[in-house]
Amino acid sequence: MERVIIRGVGSCMPECILPNADLEGMVDTTSEWIVMRTGIESRRICLDTEMASDLGCEAARKALENANISTCDIDLIIVATVTPDMRFPATACIIQKKLGCVDIPCFDVNAVCSGFIYALDVARNFLLNNSKMKNILVIGTEKMSSIVNWEDRSTCVLFGDGAGAVVLSRDMEENSDAGILDVLIGADGSLGHLLHCPIYGSTGPVGVGSTEKDEYFIKMEGREVFKEAIKRMCAVAGDVLQRNGLTIDDINCVIPHQANMRITSAIADRMGIPQEKMLINLQHTGNTSAASIPIAMNEAIQNGKIQSDDLVLTVAFGAGMTWGAALIRWK
Ligand code: ACO
Repeated sequence: MERVIIRGVGSCMPECILPNADLEGMVDTTSEWIVMRTGIESRRICLDTEMASDLGCEAARKALENANISTCDIDLIIVATVTPDMRFPATACIIQKKLGCVDIPCFDVNAVCSGFIYALDVARNFLLNNSKMKNILVIGTEKMSSIVNWEDRSTCVLFGDGAGAVVLSRDMEENSDAGILDVLIGADGSLGHLLHCPIYGSTGPVGVGSTEKDEYFIKMEGREVFKEAIKRMCAVAGDVLQRNGLTIDDINCVIPHQANMRITSAIADRMGIPQEKMLINLQHTGNTSAASIPIAMNEAIQNGKIQSDDLVLTVAFGAGMTWGAALIRWK
């Protein structure tokens, strides 16, 4: 049976660190409040000249190096992002140019914080159904700092910038059960108003007189998002385990979307996941939306927290509302 494996992983974080203490001088907040309510201690922030494609390109280069393949071996690039460099062309096309892998198809996926799992599912299906494709680059990259209202204390403390990438490949090795075993994705558009960024599209062209400044930025009903995030991530993780005849005890580690420590702790409590199995790095990244899972995945590999043969569960939730979970037997 053909399987799709994660052959290489990489990430790229901006150099500039924004600690909570610096936010105290920007909005009415304290480092203690941020740590207590979110677990976040610092986040990385792009320079004005640094774009989502720059971070994504560097993360992709590292993933290619880790996979030990060259740009010529890539058959498709999919970028999950909610902060593309520009409205069009797609950030995937911009990254293609920067990487120098010409003529292959490229497109972006927008499922906000669930974007990486959506893109993983799309890529996996391409590989399983298109025999001409062997290797696909899946990149999650975000410059959340460009859509954060730095005067709104209820949102600006939460987000950060960064990128992560994986190379997915068809694996022909016999007698192996490694690879992406299953992916489950879902959405409920009726809850879109809970978390949105109004002016990025046909809703309100830039320059229209009535446009309020804060319409350019993330708007969120934090408490409602918080409740939905826990409910949906527990449900989708439970569903993907159940339909594969597994329980949480079969899982070696869980990589949740890195939004808020209280959300990840609540998921661990409800699902009976020991804290040591939860791979958390949001303390120094903040919420990097579509980039959060591949960044955490790369860090966990670097730290030896994911080993060959481990069964990894990854689960996300984001604006839309969208959600997704993937089961991966690590190789
Ligand atoms: N510093 C100090 N006080 C603050 C801050 C801040 N940065 N932000 C809000 N407050 C105040 C509020 O104004 C409020 O004050 P009031 O009681 O006088 O009105 C008080 O703190 C409590 O506010 P709540 O919004 O009820 O605080 P809560 O405990 O819910 O924490 C938070 C807020 C952290 C945003 C939480 O709701 C949350 O994490 N929600 C999920 C949001 C999220 O993760 N979104 C990311 C995208 S979706 C995803 O990735 C899963």
